[in-house]
Amino acid sequence: MNEQIVAAGELKWWQRGIIYQIYPRSFQDSNDDGVGDLRGITARLPYVASLGVEAVWLSPIFTSPMRDFGYDVADYCDIDPLFGTLGDFDALVTEAHRLGLKVMLDYVPNHTSSDHAWFRDAITGPDSDRRDWYVWRAPAPDGGPPNNWVSFFGGPAWTLDPTSGQYYLHQFLPSQPDLNWRNPAVRRAMGDVLRFWMDRGVDGFRVDVIWLLAEDDRFLDEPENPDWTPGSVEHARLQHVYTQDQPETHAYIRELRQVLDEYDDRMMVGEIYLPVEQLLPYAGTPAQPMVHLPFNFHLILLPWHAAGVRDFADRYDAACVAAGSWPNWVLGNHDQHRFKSRVGAAQYRVAQTLLLTLRGTPTVYYGDEIGLQNVPIPPERMVDPAGVQQPDVPAASRDPERTPMHWNTQPNAGFTAGHVEPWLPVDDAFASLNVEQQESDPASDLNYFRALTRLRRDHPALVGGAYVSEDSGAADVFAFRRTLDGEVVTVLLNFGSASQTLGDLAQGRTLLSSVGDQPVAGAALRPNEARIVLR
Ligand code: GLC
Repeated sequence: MNEQIVAAGELKWWQRGIIYQIYPRSFQDSNDDGVGDLRGITARLPYVASLGVEAVWLSPIFTSPMRDFGYDVADYCDIDPLFGTLGDFDALVTEAHRLGLKVMLDYVPNHTSSDHAWFRDAITGPDSDRRDWYVWRAPAPDGGPPNNWVSFFGGPAWTLDPTSGQYYLHQFLPSQPDLNWRNPAVRRAMGDVLRFWMDRGVDGFRVDVIWLLAEDDRFLDEPENPDWTPGSVEHARLQHVYTQDQPETHAYIRELRQVLDEYDDRMMVGEIYLPVEQLLPYAGTPAQPMVHLPFNFHLILLPWHAAGVRDFADRYDAACVAAGSWPNWVLGNHDQHRFKSRVGAAQYRVAQTLLLTLRGTPTVYYGDEIGLQNVPIPPERMVDPAGVQQPDVPAASRDPERTPMHWNTQPNAGFTAGHVEPWLPVDDAFASLNVEQQESDPASDLNYFRALTRLRRDHPALVGGAYVSEDSGAADVFAFRRTLDGEVVTVLLNFGSASQTLGDLAQGRTLLSSVGDQPVAGAALRPNEARIVLR
């Protein structure tokens, strides 16, 4: 038996538990300014704990001009006044720990804000002590940018500093200059940032765009992507062979891991959009560990078909077993459209069941537990730079998945008192789609989510057990088993809209059905049904 397939009690918290992502601007406003904050989050932590999750991950809360809503950090070691104070943060950590929740922060090492003291110093001129903390290049012979690299939000990845005549690199906005990770002083300073927060009791980090830390130092043009189609985002026009997944990046991550390992039981999960073969190496080896979890975003990227999802789950699980690394699964985050909108309302519980029963750590995006969907944003309310800078690509804006949480039927869904317009519109659907209403409805999506997390608690096979998929005999049905110490739990997922008779696979006692009843052993799987059966 693989050493990773062990009883839940022997697993680390980040293997055993569910990570719940909070987008702080949109969770709960406590001071009536239309933007969520730390005190609001603290007040809602009992709700988060009631979901049966293990950890909260907060998207950035640090000092920032908010041009990329906090992913442009001006001071890594302080809280932006919009969100509160360091005292509010300490209170949040204390309350989370009292409730048995771990706290994870968003660590943004690839770039700072141009308002950061380091960059303000660096841009004073080539003699600045901090000049080499960022990436500077001379113009091309025609005076233009040094090469063809493009920013994720469209436009060149280089901006001219007219004073020195040099360009600086930014993989995102011009106001998000890339740090130069080749410089050991940068790596030391960024290691100290981790120590600062671990000393304050932080349990882990989600590491922003960790696969982008290094660039090839020849600064060659990147090749065109032959599959790019006009009308899709400009960044996809190139193949990012010199700006992503460079060997130096792996070395830098090993150093970051050493910093984490100075402390007990801390973890980091890295944001990495790569195919499995390039993704799994980011976990490193037992001798040279890297991130504890390299985010697996493939459930977001794959077409929603039983056969394709099964094939991916089989390949990924086998690759994790072979590499001795722990799997993880994601359906949504603040950069991706809501999964209920993506897979369709009929498939919502099938997807939720899949996320919470596959082998590996699930990450849940706030509001997905009550079934929030994309919220249409009128053009004049669009604020996300990815959307504002790319008006010809309608799907580029991430505002639709970042709207305020729906708590109750009060004005603005209870997110903010209502004297100030919330920073993004609240979905009109809140009147019938909110936490309070779902709390009192045993058949609600919220209570279905809780039933799933209870099952994980009561059936260790669902957490630590081995995974093996089964031939269901129906093209639309993905079936798999989780087994541990003689316990066999079968998960049956109908991706289609026809009823399916499955014979032996459906035998056993129904632990949970997405339809809300208790089908007898062997009963046909109904359209769009998810069912969990104990043999
Ligand atoms: C990551 C974040 C995204 C942000 C970008 C730049 O992809 O998830 O929200 O815009 O990095 O920091």
